[in-house]
Amino acid sequence: MVWLQRPRTSGVLLLLALSAAAVAAASCKHAAAPYIDVTVPVRAGMPIWESPRGLPKHWRTLHLQLADGDEVNQSWLNLDAHTGTHIDAPAHFLKGGSAIEDLDLDVLIGEVLVVEVPGGSNITGGSNITAEVLQQLALPADVQRVMLKTDNTEKGLMAQRAFASNYTALDSTAAAHITGSSSIKLVGIDYLSIGMLEDIGETHRTLFKGGVVVIEGLDLSQVQRGWYHQMCLPAKLAGSDGAPVRCVLQQLVTVKHTEL
Ligand SMILES: *[C@@H]1O[C@H](CO)[C@@H](O)[C@H](O)[C@H]1NC(C)=O
Ligand SMILES: *[C@@H]1O[C@H](CO)[C@@H](O)[C@H](O)[C@H]1NC(C)=O
Ligand SMILES: *[C@@H]1O[C@H](CO)[C@@H](O)[C@H](O)[C@H]1NC(C)=O
Ligand SMILES: *[C@@H]1O[C@H](CO)[C@@H](O)[C@H](O)[C@H]1NC(C)=O
Repeated sequence: MVWLQRPRTSGVLLLLALSAAAVAAASCKHAAAPYIDVTVPVRAGMPIWESPRGLPKHWRTLHLQLADGDEVNQSWLNLDAHTGTHIDAPAHFLKGGSAIEDLDLDVLIGEVLVVEVPGGSNITGGSNITAEVLQQLALPADVQRVMLKTDNTEKGLMAQRAFASNYTALDSTAAAHITGSSSIKLVGIDYLSIGMLEDIGETHRTLFKGGVVVIEGLDLSQVQRGWYHQMCLPAKLAGSDGAPVRCVLQQLVTVKHTEL
């Protein structure tokens, strides 16, 4: 599929908009591509795992408050480490698996391909995302990071209070495909789990054993398919099996030599 190719035609230079080195080399200023925030705000009523009611109001409580004569407002948090847009650490599913602070920054930051994979469509053959579906996507052989924009986005699942068990996600054959025959080191998805409910354990374990980083609960509603620079940095919660992450993308911009 042509749209999956990175623009590498001669006469065209792929320039990462914020790359200081590239800008300096061209000795020419370029407007930075705007940041696209793909993080869901943590707030009461956002969807949480298997709850019909969403995140309770007391996820954040004021421990000290100005109105009471305290010198500061100071909140305490009471949250599942897997709330909203978050990263799973291998320790989430694997005994002795590494924790969130051990994830490689080189994987969390870098070039990412956003692909559209509508669930129940002709592309998926009416199923969740299987190895066959991934093969049909014909991802570039060297792609390291992939974000899957599925019909979860179209249905607005991350914006609705009630947990939807019928979300679209990977099955374990897709996980095995990723770890067995691809260069993918990070995979993100637009609902609360990378694995479909029936296959959730096997899918996660396969990905973690294969060293793949998993980002869940992304808001990809403002992002189209294509190449982006990704910055996804989870809170450094020592020893934790997961952590909320702030995740932003910047579109990779193509600049013609004549414009430099
Ligand atoms: C600060 O505390 C007051 C109550 O004392 C509260 O109304 C206000 O929302 C608090 N601000 C934040 C950001 O929590
Ligand atoms: C899906 O496949 C059916 C049957 O092959 C075809 O009629 C239909 O046009 C396809 N829809 C899309 C969106 O490609
Ligand atoms: C998916 O689940 C939601 C709520 O959990 C429900 O409203 C919707 O009808 C379901 N969709 C299908 C196709 O079963
Ligand atoms: C994906 O799997 C879920 C169960 O985990 C199921 O409810 C849903 O219908 C499946 N989606 C498709 C498109 O088959």
